[in-house]
Amino acid sequence: MSAKAWSGRFSQPTDALVEAFTESISFDARLADVDIRGSRAHARMLSEVGLLTTEEFQAIDRELESIGGLIVDGKMEFRTELEDIHLHIESELVARLGDVGRKLHTGRSRNDQVSTDLKLYTRDAIDHLDLQLQELQRAFVRRGPDDLDVILPGYTHLQRAQPVVATHYWLAYCEKFQRDRDRLADCRRRVNISPLGAAALAGTSLPIDRRRTAELLGFEAPALNSLDVSSDRDFLVEFTAALALIAAHLSTWAEEWILWNTTEFGFLKLPDSFTTGSSIMPQKKNPDVLELVRGKAARVIAAAQTLFVLIKGLPLAYNRDLQEDKRAMFDALDTVAACLAIAPSIVAGAQLQRDAIAARLDDGFLDATVLMEYLIARGIPMRTGHEVVGRLVAECEGRGCRLAELPLADLQQASSLIQEDVFGVLGAKNAAAALISEGSGGPARVGERLAAWQQRLGVDAPG
Ligand code: ARG
Repeated sequence: MSAKAWSGRFSQPTDALVEAFTESISFDARLADVDIRGSRAHARMLSEVGLLTTEEFQAIDRELESIGGLIVDGKMEFRTELEDIHLHIESELVARLGDVGRKLHTGRSRNDQVSTDLKLYTRDAIDHLDLQLQELQRAFVRRGPDDLDVILPGYTHLQRAQPVVATHYWLAYCEKFQRDRDRLADCRRRVNISPLGAAALAGTSLPIDRRRTAELLGFEAPALNSLDVSSDRDFLVEFTAALALIAAHLSTWAEEWILWNTTEFGFLKLPDSFTTGSSIMPQKKNPDVLELVRGKAARVIAAAQTLFVLIKGLPLAYNRDLQEDKRAMFDALDTVAACLAIAPSIVAGAQLQRDAIAARLDDGFLDATVLMEYLIARGIPMRTGHEVVGRLVAECEGRGCRLAELPLADLQQASSLIQEDVFGVLGAKNAAAALISEGSGGPARVGERLAAWQQRLGVDAPG
């Protein structure tokens, strides 16, 4: 058994319970790749400033690369007594290079090292998530042209409100996921500042070059307060909060499609390959995947909460509490990445039940608001128009008919300003077509937005 990297001032071995309690190798081994990238940059810089000879650097660099390969191949044995990934890699290096390996940790601490690793890891994760979010947006946009002629009820309070083009729904999700992408990009700017060389908390008396390691690792700049950056985890709070919003957006989509897939709504058929059956009820086809997308959001939101609570009241600088950051962040990341990996296929494979939608589209007075606006356009004060149409709706409910089924004479009874042309706005399809304001759900505006999204995402317009 090798002595601990920090065993010098201890006279008794660490209790086995303590080793088991304090280890992080069981969950930080996935930092191996970024840890080695960070160490190789650090070693290169050390050689450039004269703290390592060229030969020492070359040996360290070569062995670090080889240790990386060993870990990728699953051939490194992880041991609780070596605590974490950083000490595993360093002790393997020392086993191979002896005193030369013992020089790698010059001018740094595990505190700036783990923070550097986390930032490199988070940066890669952001870049991957951005591609995944873009794929999901593309899946929605690819549906756009086909679904442009389907009118759906829009709801508020889950009550039928006004009609919109189906594609308006798809592009609503594109907007949400775009904000998520923008948020990640913004978070990335703060992630991309290098902690390396902040050392334990105070920097170092050795002539290290922090700008050089920042540059080698693709960071924008070194962070300029060692006390702050050696323990800063703001970036993980931001990152998991951004993940939580992605998860929340995904859960809204999942919930909506779960509802639409019910017999009661009958708007949507989910693809067989993305639904599951019941072990007792032979007829069932359940939206379990969407339910899990909805449910997993709870874990992600909790992770953001965990990180927030973790940093609350923590004194400067590094405290071991921070080791808990990784579990929460990795879980949130894995959960969102798994949801994003499966979502585009569901979006692409779902079928709108056009006939069922059309059969009931004129239920629920989706055209009432546009009728009111018809009156407003002819000079009636808005509140008066609201009352007039409200009375007409009540009248229809009494008669069991739709607004478009009222005789013109009855409509004119309610307001003399109503003319024959009112039938051009009545009915859900006409009412949808009448929506013309910028960003509205009518076919003309949605068509414009669809073209803009196609261009933005590089999705070919059909035909
Ligand atoms: N495993 C530790 C973590 O993940 C690494 C940093 C340990 N630093 C220390 N001073 N004990 O936070």
